[in-house]
Amino acid sequence: MNYLSRTFGKIILIGEHSVVYGKPAIAIPFDDTHLDVYIEKSDKNCISCKYFEGELDYSNDEILGINKLVDVFLEQYNISEKIKIKIDSNIPHERGMGSSAAAAVGVTKALYNYFDIDYNIEEIFSFANISEKIVHGNPSGIDVNVVANNKSLYYIKNKAFENFPIDTDAYIIIADSGKKGATKEAVSDVKKLVNTDKKYMQYIEKLGELTDMAKTNIENNNIFKLGEIFNSAQDYLRKLTVSDNLLEELIEIAIKNNALGAKLTGGGRGGCMIALSDSLENAQKIKLALDSKAKETWMTKLKIK
Ligand code: MEV
Repeated sequence: MNYLSRTFGKIILIGEHSVVYGKPAIAIPFDDTHLDVYIEKSDKNCISCKYFEGELDYSNDEILGINKLVDVFLEQYNISEKIKIKIDSNIPHERGMGSSAAAAVGVTKALYNYFDIDYNIEEIFSFANISEKIVHGNPSGIDVNVVANNKSLYYIKNKAFENFPIDTDAYIIIADSGKKGATKEAVSDVKKLVNTDKKYMQYIEKLGELTDMAKTNIENNNIFKLGEIFNSAQDYLRKLTVSDNLLEELIEIAIKNNALGAKLTGGGRGGCMIALSDSLENAQKIKLALDSKAKETWMTKLKIK
């Protein structure tokens, strides 16, 4: 089978949820996790992935978004050839690490490559968003942007791509709580809260301000202050009801083991958390402590193109 695209997971450093309301967010690609797409000729349109194996016409809810994306692509380019798509991924599914965006961008790129059609980034966004809207409801676009560009970014919804290269002495440790996140529900519940009481919009405003403070402190390599900002952001995310007990336990473990700060990452209500560390030695200690509770952990230097 031809290997036609590789995409990577993503981590939101700060600004999840508030980004939906036009506030800035900072996200990085995470190349310890990736997703590969292969396509070959077939007698029926089929897909093979962790969640479904068989004809696209009979697929399940897990791949509804990809199914629709492929349908629209084949129709738009008047393609009658039947294909089999195979997706291989080690990005944890529904854990706020961008697995659905990686699949949507990866499948779109693989389709363009397989059928030898020229494409630009706007076309990638437009097809990937067909799937993301089904999976996430009303996504801000941050996941697709970071995955499609494979660069760290300072992101504001509906604004041009702004690459934000990061070069700090810090390390981040990522831990998967092992519980599926619930981004769609969390985003919709935050919306309900924002519509019922104005204090919730103030929390969103605060998260926006914290993101801009994080940007300045990343630029100045002021990682101790950045840790405090992570903790404050987590306070507001908790108030927005998107944290949960498992994430809080992991955050507590990280802080007890000298993390400079820790917070959930992505949609929350399950999924992953991130902790910030000032040295490799401390990062290893934090990772080891998180290993006792988390499903999976990773560690990376906070230095990204
Ligand atoms: C999901 O990775 C991040 C959220 O802010 C939702 C979005 O931006 O679409 C929770």
